[in-house]
Amino acid sequence: MALMRKSRQPKWNRRHLLGLRELTAEEITYILDTAEGFEQVSRRSVKKAPPLRGKVVVNLFFEDSTRTRTSFALAANRLSADIIEFTKKSSSVSKGETLLDTARNLEAMGIDIVVVRHGAGGAARLLSRNIKACVVNAGDGFCEHPTQALLDVYTIRKIKGSLEGLKIAIVGDIAHSRVARSDMWAMTKLGAEVIFVGPPTLMPGQVNRLPVKVSHSLDEVIEEVDVVNMLRIQFERLGGNPFPSIREYSHYFGLTVDRMKKTKPDILVMHPGPINRGLEMESEVADGGNSVILEQVTNGLAVRMAVLFLVNQAAAMEK
Ligand code: CP
Repeated sequence: MALMRKSRQPKWNRRHLLGLRELTAEEITYILDTAEGFEQVSRRSVKKAPPLRGKVVVNLFFEDSTRTRTSFALAANRLSADIIEFTKKSSSVSKGETLLDTARNLEAMGIDIVVVRHGAGGAARLLSRNIKACVVNAGDGFCEHPTQALLDVYTIRKIKGSLEGLKIAIVGDIAHSRVARSDMWAMTKLGAEVIFVGPPTLMPGQVNRLPVKVSHSLDEVIEEVDVVNMLRIQFERLGGNPFPSIREYSHYFGLTVDRMKKTKPDILVMHPGPINRGLEMESEVADGGNSVILEQVTNGLAVRMAVLFLVNQAAAMEK
């Protein structure tokens, strides 16, 4: 009887996606498997499927974005939802309206899913506790960027078959990176070993309490890793000067053509974008044969379709 009850448990019952820290490996895998099913929608001549017909998704972005915003808009569109674009600059936030008041007013117009990006850590969680709509975190402060990490592990799984036993270096500005944190949770839960690589000044506080190894030398790890994920230096979030000069940073931590000569031949080169070309990596590497940077972007669409579909389905099951 207990077994029967267990087998009837839905594999996904969360109406919000706030972060990957709280998800199990099974839940992450279920999102990836669901995304695989949605990939074929984008290959059709009419790129539409009906699951979110009649639903309204709002892109509530308080920070700039190219990939995440467009990808969520396209994902909502392909699932036949209506999509509302909200930008801080053209909204009443400039008159002092709070995040919660903004969301509650949008909710009063009948939105079903809020996709939120905000500079403050915890913004998505705050919304999830105060509005009835589903909330999807599109990046909050330094905390999490769950759909970026999902598309990262989706891309790795698609090419390598599995993350089990892979060594993955995440390189650069770890301290200010919500991508690094979400990647760390997703990759380690799926069985990979993660190494944070960067200068001590760009490591998060209490990094030794995280489930990662730490290295301050890219040359020390580059020969042994299966995947290297280069992070953008987030100049807009830097308080002081975490390294003496851009040239020096690039010399020690940049992915150069010379460094690529030491890697495994089938290493995957990743970057969440936007790239500071010539700083995190040379253009020849970003556009080279090992780079899967644009595949990451392509895969983001199917992953975000899966996320919108699953949170909406969970909300419908609660009713
Ligand atoms: N990777 C990422 O979040 O890119 P955008 O800031 O362009 O959305």
